[in-house]
Amino acid sequence: MQIGWVALADYRNYSTLSYTPSERLNVITGLNAQGKTNLLEALAVLLTGRSFRTGRLAEIPRWGAPSTTITGEVRRADGSRTLRRTIRKLEDGRWHAAGDACPWTRAVAFGWQDLEIVNGGPGSRRNFVDGCAARLYSSHQTTLVRFRQILARRNRLLQFRLPAALLDSRLAPWDEQLARVGMELVDRRQRAVAALQTELARVYPALSGLHHKVEIRYRASVGETTEPAAFVAALARVRAEEVRRGQTVIGPHRDDLAIEIDGVGARAFGSRGQQRLLALALRLAEVLPIREAVGTAPVLLLDDALSELDPDGRENVLREIEGAEQVFLTTPDPRPLGAGARWVVAGGGIAAA
Ligand SMILES: Nc1ncnc2c1ncn2[C@@H]1O[C@H](COP(=O)(O)OP(=O)(O)O)[C@@H](O)[C@H]1O
Ligand SMILES: [Mg+2]
Repeated sequence: MQIGWVALADYRNYSTLSYTPSERLNVITGLNAQGKTNLLEALAVLLTGRSFRTGRLAEIPRWGAPSTTITGEVRRADGSRTLRRTIRKLEDGRWHAAGDACPWTRAVAFGWQDLEIVNGGPGSRRNFVDGCAARLYSSHQTTLVRFRQILARRNRLLQFRLPAALLDSRLAPWDEQLARVGMELVDRRQRAVAALQTELARVYPALSGLHHKVEIRYRASVGETTEPAAFVAALARVRAEEVRRGQTVIGPHRDDLAIEIDGVGARAFGSRGQQRLLALALRLAEVLPIREAVGTAPVLLLDDALSELDPDGRENVLREIEGAEQVFLTTPDPRPLGAGARWVVAGGGIAAA
């Protein structure tokens, strides 16, 4: 799929902007703090309704403005649509987002904070896999929200210090729900990881130029099973510890991913250069599974993706993204990359270079 054009009003540092990008690679240059990342964020909001930068709507409208609008045309092989989204301040001071949902628009965004997927804590990897699963399976986000609600209720019950028999009977319905919704989450995460694995095994060597074997595996805290009954039984086995700690100690909220290069954990043993390429490869590995699941390729939003790489790595990344559909790549480097339409962002505007 492609973005045909986009128009912004009062979006971050842009008072108004209209931009008609190329259908393939767009290289966006400009000095620091000119609005390169803000533009990528606006494209993500147009396509998905969400920012990859913040969960706080209030940050997005231009300072002092009561609302922002993001309008644009999205296209795929069989037609186009105009999408319009707004974020505005309500009378009670809260911010509200509204707009058109389109079932086939997808964005895959990369920034160097994604290094955390490789070398951060398990929560970063769970967020990563949930993001992938949500792009592949449309109900994943709803299931995730439901799971968190059930988990919070169950944790509160564990903190009441009830007598054992009463606690057991109160927990029973929550255990059943936690297990059923939890296993749904685990199942989709595992399928997302399996889809990523095949592409990652191709993309990482393509970026590094070396024949490394890369593996990504889902590590479930309840073990191999995806049967809700087995999850309930596992909960019973850890009941004493749960009561002591006042929280649910096994389940999808405690799971992790193992990411290995040649059989060795990338988090502990990867070199800095390997970790960087791996973070980028993990995002690029999503492109093909999304294309297969949705029927059209996602738009790639790569924020400053070349800056931390050596010259070979940069060339390999450029070669890899040639195979993608529409790509937006920001860089502070004013030198041409030898490919793509070039744009310069300065002082809240954009112009062809
Ligand atoms: N809501 C906002 N309203 C106005 N300006 C903003 C808002 N949010 C961020 N900015 C400004 O946007 C600029 C950063 O833009 P950014 O896209 O991160 O730059 P870069 O080109 O370095 O990627 C900063 O100058 C910041 O002050
Ligand atoms: Mg930036």
